[in-house]
Amino acid sequence: MKFELPVLPYATNALEPVISWQTIELHYGKHLQTYITNLNNLVSGTKFENADLETIVKESDGAIFNNAGQTLNHNIYFLSFSPAGGGAPKGKLAEAIDKKWDSFENFKKEFVAAGIAVFGSGWVWLAKDSAGNLEITKEPNAGNPVTKGLTPLLGFDVWEHAYYLDYQNRRADHLAELWKIIDWSAVESRY
Ligand SMILES: [Fe+2]
Repeated sequence: MKFELPVLPYATNALEPVISWQTIELHYGKHLQTYITNLNNLVSGTKFENADLETIVKESDGAIFNNAGQTLNHNIYFLSFSPAGGGAPKGKLAEAIDKKWDSFENFKKEFVAAGIAVFGSGWVWLAKDSAGNLEITKEPNAGNPVTKGLTPLLGFDVWEHAYYLDYQNRRADHLAELWKIIDWSAVESRY
C-alpha cells in the first residue's frame, strides 16, 4: 500500500506519564493505522492514486479528505514528541514566536486557549505563512492549515481519543502537559 505508518522515534511507553503506552498503542497503532488503510483504499483508482499527501488534503473532499487530513495531521503530531523534549524553541522560530506573542509563555497560553475552544473534535495548529509569519489556527475534525495556504509546524490533537484514557474529560490538563514532550528541534525543522 502507498501510505504507511510513520516509524516512531521513541518506544510506545517513552512519553509516559504525559501520554500513556495504552494511548500510543490505540491512537497511533489503531486510529492512525485505520486512517491510513482507509486512505489507501479510497484513493485506489482515483485521480489521487499517485498524489502526495499534502496535495490530496488540499484538493479532496468528503471521505478522502477526512482520511488524508487525519493521516497528515497524525504524522506531524506523532513526530513532534520526544521523551527528551520540553523546554523552549530556539533560533528563528523562537524569534518569530516572540515577535507575534511577546513571549513563549504567552504563546503557550494562547495556543492552549485555542485548543480548549475547539468545540468537539479537531486540532489546534501553529502554522506559518510564506513570509514566515506565525499564526494559531483552530481546525474542526480533520482540518489542517495547508488548506489555507499555510505550513503546519505543530498540532495538538483535541479529539477525545488523544486524551480520554489518560485525562478523561480534562482536555485543558492534557494540553498543558504536552509541552513537556515537544521535540522543538522537529518543530524548528518545519519552520
Ligand atoms: Fe487523533
